[in-house]
Amino acid sequence: MQARNQEFRRFEQVEKPQDYHLSEQPHGEEFDEEYEIRTCDMSGLLAGDPDERDAFAERLGQALEGIGFAILTGHGIDLSLHERTAALTRELFESTTEKQRLKFLAARQGSVNQGYFPVRETTIIHPDLVQGWVFCRRAFDLDGRADWHESDFWPLPGFEPAFRELVLAQEPLILPVMQSLLRYLGCDPHTWDERLAATNFGFRLNYYPPLEGNPDAGGRMLGHEDVDLFTFLPAPAVDGLQVLNRRNMKWIRLDAPPGSIILNTGDYMQRISNDIFPSTTHRVSRPAAPELQAQARVSFPMAIYAWEDELLEVLPGTGTPKYPPVRAIEFHTAITSKYYGEDYAVAEDESA
Ligand SMILES: [Fe+2]
Repeated sequence: MQARNQEFRRFEQVEKPQDYHLSEQPHGEEFDEEYEIRTCDMSGLLAGDPDERDAFAERLGQALEGIGFAILTGHGIDLSLHERTAALTRELFESTTEKQRLKFLAARQGSVNQGYFPVRETTIIHPDLVQGWVFCRRAFDLDGRADWHESDFWPLPGFEPAFRELVLAQEPLILPVMQSLLRYLGCDPHTWDERLAATNFGFRLNYYPPLEGNPDAGGRMLGHEDVDLFTFLPAPAVDGLQVLNRRNMKWIRLDAPPGSIILNTGDYMQRISNDIFPSTTHRVSRPAAPELQAQARVSFPMAIYAWEDELLEVLPGTGTPKYPPVRAIEFHTAITSKYYGEDYAVAEDESA
């Protein structure tokens, strides 16, 4: 597939000058072996050390301004929880039939397309070799709603409380990360506190089936940028994540240590930071070792969103605003209509 991202630029809501093939090319792509994605240890910050507040903000801000990706350590979440969640993800896809899964076929609720995405149907623009399942806040028993029923969202009982453990463990990291980024930008670090209390998120389970056939064939997921403030991705056990260095247009292979969390900024953050934090292109390629290609790969990123009616406004002190304020749902669905069809976009004043 020879399509390039720039053919879809009319959907974009932030400046993305990078020009790349959506589909991984078997030959001729260049790799950046030099660039090191920075590791940022959160332990001092989370322990409340006041010196670390500024030091961490500086480290994280620099890392993200440079490439849009960082590796978080010292976040307090046990490796065993990552391992249990990986096993559960595998189990969710392997213990259900396609018929059971299709009952939960993805549909838009607010800004986000939520539910199950069959293999090759994650988007209409590229047949990604992945089955996905997006569970947003409403799919979890988090807010004590009387009308909440597990069976409305989950194909089998027991998965929701088990996956909720990781969601609950990661939720307390949202504000420290956001506050650090705001601090780095010279803004009041609490500007977004209220908007992010019980905010929406997209917890996406990815199941990449074992690869068959031609080892020269393309990758597992197309190059894309995340449509969110930022994403927490517990380091996957099987490698394959690649990040585009837009300064030299080479791909960086990102293989983070077990137990760490990969953090990247997305379109919402690029918009409100006036392009200081980039929404960086990444993709999932085949693992380097041939024996790993015959194994399924799982990953479980958690995308942090603002609720659909929140306004995305360029933050003060980040220079002359390049973008006008926009409601999150219009921003989000304008971009993602490239993946789901033009009628996915919600226009101004249209009810969600
Ligand atoms: Fe992504």
